[in-house]
Amino acid sequence: MNLRGVILAGGKGTRLGELTKVTNKHLLPVGPLPMVYYPLKKLTGAGIRDILLVSGTEHMGDFVELFGSGREYGCNLTYRVQDEAGGIAQALGLAELFCTNASCIVILGDNIFYDPLHSFIDEAHRFPHNARVMLKEVHDPQRYGVAELKDGKVISLEEKPKQPRSNYAVAGIYLYPPDVFSIIKTLKPSGRGELEITDVNRAYLERGQMNYGLLENYWTDAGTLDSLGYANQLVREKPPQF
Ligand code: G1P
Repeated sequence: MNLRGVILAGGKGTRLGELTKVTNKHLLPVGPLPMVYYPLKKLTGAGIRDILLVSGTEHMGDFVELFGSGREYGCNLTYRVQDEAGGIAQALGLAELFCTNASCIVILGDNIFYDPLHSFIDEAHRFPHNARVMLKEVHDPQRYGVAELKDGKVISLEEKPKQPRSNYAVAGIYLYPPDVFSIIKTLKPSGRGELEITDVNRAYLERGQMNYGLLENYWTDAGTLDSLGYANQLVREKPPQF
């Protein structure tokens, strides 16, 4: 199976205030490394060799300077510019040509987690037509996409619900079959003017093609001052498994 990696590292990072005035969020330090190293090392550690990094115009040069062709990291890197921030699904849409006839593992560049990605690779082979999300129980689900589970299945998905139906946050780690791009083309912007990844996931759920896994160890985003501090603490205490 042709399986490719996509790292989404765009956005303005406004929730980090002055920290992202000059620097891209994904270049801020988490433990001993810039944040974006973690998704890259997760993908290469799982044997993914062809990886696309999507970011905005302002900082793409920094990523190229950091990673170059990817040779030093055992992968082939491709870069794609997102001219304007239009949401996670819009950014993923830019991967269409890169993922021709390939399934993709998509990681949001600010997601820091311990578990390696091997289960993803296995699942991609077992269910080549299904999407897969990873869930983690959290105490503040209204900050995230939220999955409701019943009888071992996802039965609903909502983006940042005011009254979450469960404590299961949808992590920013996704597996999609090659038809994800036709779904993205049908999306309409949400209330916050973005193409939402949760709408992509809901389309697979409605077709009965959505699988999920539970992250067994720690997971956090690092897009707020609190969560960036927490990510640093987690990584120092217990470095992620690649
Ligand atoms: C995004 C997604 C959300 C997901 C989260 C994980 O939220 O929209 O569904 O749970 O990433 O980090 P954002 O960080 O853009 O607010």
